Amino acid sequence: MNLRLAIFASGRGSNFKAILAAIQAGTLDAKVVLLISDQPQAGALQTAAQAGIPAKIITPNAFATNGDYGKALLQALSECDSNFVVLAGFLRMIPAAVIKAFSGCIINIHPALLPGFGGKGMYGRRVHQAVLDYGCKVSGATVHLVDENYDTGKPLVQRCVPVYEDDTPESLAARVLEIEHQILPETLQLFAKDRVKIDDQRVRILPIEF
Ligand code: GRF
Repeated sequence: MNLRLAIFASGRGSNFKAILAAIQAGTLDAKVVLLISDQPQAGALQTAAQAGIPAKIITPNAFATNGDYGKALLQALSECDSNFVVLAGFLRMIPAAVIKAFSGCIINIHPALLPGFGGKGMYGRRVHQAVLDYGCKVSGATVHLVDENYDTGKPLVQRCVPVYEDDTPESLAARVLEIEHQILPETLQLFAKDRVKIDDQRVRILPIEF
């Protein structure tokens, strides 16, 4: 598919940068048409400005209802003719109307191997602390479809990293982040090449066609 990406980011935006870098390097066939943030201070907004990408700050608190918030998001997505949404460090629940409108075309990146260490409140340092507290020997990152609950959509791509005895949440987060920056653009390229097949029960990745 001809990917016209809308990126949602609440913070630093390193995954957003990884997407832009992959497009620049020619390994991802996509165009970023919009950056949406809920945080006026988000680093991702600066990246968008530097790259000349249109950006909008849309905060749920500015709307009377979640339905109105959803309408504002859909309006912004329609104005830039986006056909694919990427949650790249976005800390808000996406309204149901947006998930419905972009069903199968809305993905999230999570810094652990789902279904472990996900769900409401599991973000940032907490995820890696929980992995260490549990004593896992591997962790990793998951790119998954977004459904109406936190982190429960079907996995698309997962990759592991080792957990070392002397890891801190910060050292583990840094190792996982490197993997995130690989698998998020890689997953998008699977969509760009129409290699993602979504059935009710599972997601299949089709082989490369030469
Ligand atoms: C990443 O660890 C991502 O997995 C999680 O939020 C973090 C965002 O980092 N959902 P960045 O803003 O892309 O640097």
